[in-house]
Amino acid sequence: MGVLEDVQGVLLGTAEKAIQGDTEAVGWVVVAFLSLSIVVVLAFNQVPSGKGGKVLPPLYAEGLPLIGNALAFAKAPLDMVTRGHNSLGDCFTINMASKRFTFLLSPSAHEVSLLSKDTDVDVKDIYRFTVPVFGPGVVYDADLDERYFQFKMLGSGLRITKLKGYVPHMVNESESFFAKWGNEGEVDLFDELARLILMTASRCLLGPEVREDMFEEAAELIHILDQGMQVLSLFVPNLPTSAHRKRDQARKDLQKLFQKVISKRRETGIVGDDLLQVFMQARRTDGSSCDDFTIVGLLIAAIFGGQHTSSITSTWIGLHLIRDKDLLSRVVEEQQNALKGQDGQLNYEALMQMNLLHRVMKEVLRMYPPLIFLMRQVENERTYKGMSIPKGDYLFMSPAVTGRLPSLWAKPNEFDPDRFAEPRVEDKKARLTFMGFGGGRHSCMGEQFAFLQVKAIWSVLLRDFDLEPVGEMNVPNYEALVVGPKGPTTIRYKRKVPRAT
Ligand code: HEM
Repeated sequence: MGVLEDVQGVLLGTAEKAIQGDTEAVGWVVVAFLSLSIVVVLAFNQVPSGKGGKVLPPLYAEGLPLIGNALAFAKAPLDMVTRGHNSLGDCFTINMASKRFTFLLSPSAHEVSLLSKDTDVDVKDIYRFTVPVFGPGVVYDADLDERYFQFKMLGSGLRITKLKGYVPHMVNESESFFAKWGNEGEVDLFDELARLILMTASRCLLGPEVREDMFEEAAELIHILDQGMQVLSLFVPNLPTSAHRKRDQARKDLQKLFQKVISKRRETGIVGDDLLQVFMQARRTDGSSCDDFTIVGLLIAAIFGGQHTSSITSTWIGLHLIRDKDLLSRVVEEQQNALKGQDGQLNYEALMQMNLLHRVMKEVLRMYPPLIFLMRQVENERTYKGMSIPKGDYLFMSPAVTGRLPSLWAKPNEFDPDRFAEPRVEDKKARLTFMGFGGGRHSCMGEQFAFLQVKAIWSVLLRDFDLEPVGEMNVPNYEALVVGPKGPTTIRYKRKVPRAT
């Protein structure tokens, strides 16, 4: 297909989907429109030159002048970025919609972004779309001092002593969830795990009141909030669409719902073992406490941080394990040994001994990171390899691209969890090589929580069931905002010890 036909096909197909109400497509139409609308402006300024003789990163471009980049990026962003990397190396810029997107695609290039101070490289503008979901003044919308206080609270709620206390809830939730499965049958793995992960996270983070008395209502509101976060929302978070209106109402309703729990705990003196309690008890250095609106916003942020990411990760684990019998039997054997060492108890210590399962999860995140791009904006000029990255540039790192670079990983398209074990430790050869949880200043705060939660779920599943794949292995759905497996993820299960019917 010629370039022109290619471009025409993308434009027409995307516009058609947009007209049919596909919000994702609407987002890309906005990108294409923005590109077209700046044709005249850019025609005279296409190749930015460094001011004062400074050398800028090389420019990468594809297809038609001016709109080619936006179209190629909209069509297959990872392919385009990989081509850019192959031709220009680990740092280059793509001009799109009058903005400069500078890609950093190696461990040393990651440092430019991830090790910089927040005053030099920030996320506030990028994460604007989270403001209606978490609430004004929460996390990225707060000034830096307040943001650090909020992150500190989150850190306290996810520290090791708290995590140890969450494990029994993770195991109990998993056991009761799978107890509802029959002796054998077929399920959609992703749908099942997404629901279980929300239940587990609700218990550990929101507390027993929400989990036991108001779960369905909370789950529905969280779902509506989620539906209000579309590609379009990245560009215009407050556009008065139906999804945005419902999102705003759901945020208000969640406030009312969680407010009941907060008020009751204050009145009765009930103390929870959850993240909510940590937020309620936290104090700033001046002695002031966190207001209830912010508490609810932070709870929403914590749930959102882990919901799609952990559901997707745990699904890929299953999809791989059930197709690789050797690996599966090693994981099961490891689990049996870990349980033996704990008198059969699936506890924190047992989970921590499951190193192979840990590596399987890491390998999933190397090959299928749910967050395929991590973004920042330059506040103060940065330099890399003698090149100047100017203020205002959007910085893009891509765990999905760097996770498959042959220069970093042996046979990068093979699923091989032992690459993380001694003596290979491919992820340790350079800092910021493995990017599934990000890295540096803003690496994932829920990493340990996620490992424990996902390992607990898989330990219960593998202990109690034999599992078989149904159909072909899935491929990643790169059209989604958070990338998971494309299509149904059906599996067949059979209880190891059938229950009397
Ligand atoms: C497998 C599951 C998970 C994956 C793959 C994942 C991935 C990530 C990544 C890649 C980042 C860095 C984003 C960036 O640099 O822009 C991040 C940040 C973050 N994650 Fe996770 N995450 C997971 C689970 C969780 C959970 C369970 C929580 C909360 C309980 C959580 C809370 C956060 C928070 C608060 C941040 C922001 C940290 C900051 O800005 O300083 N994540 N996560």
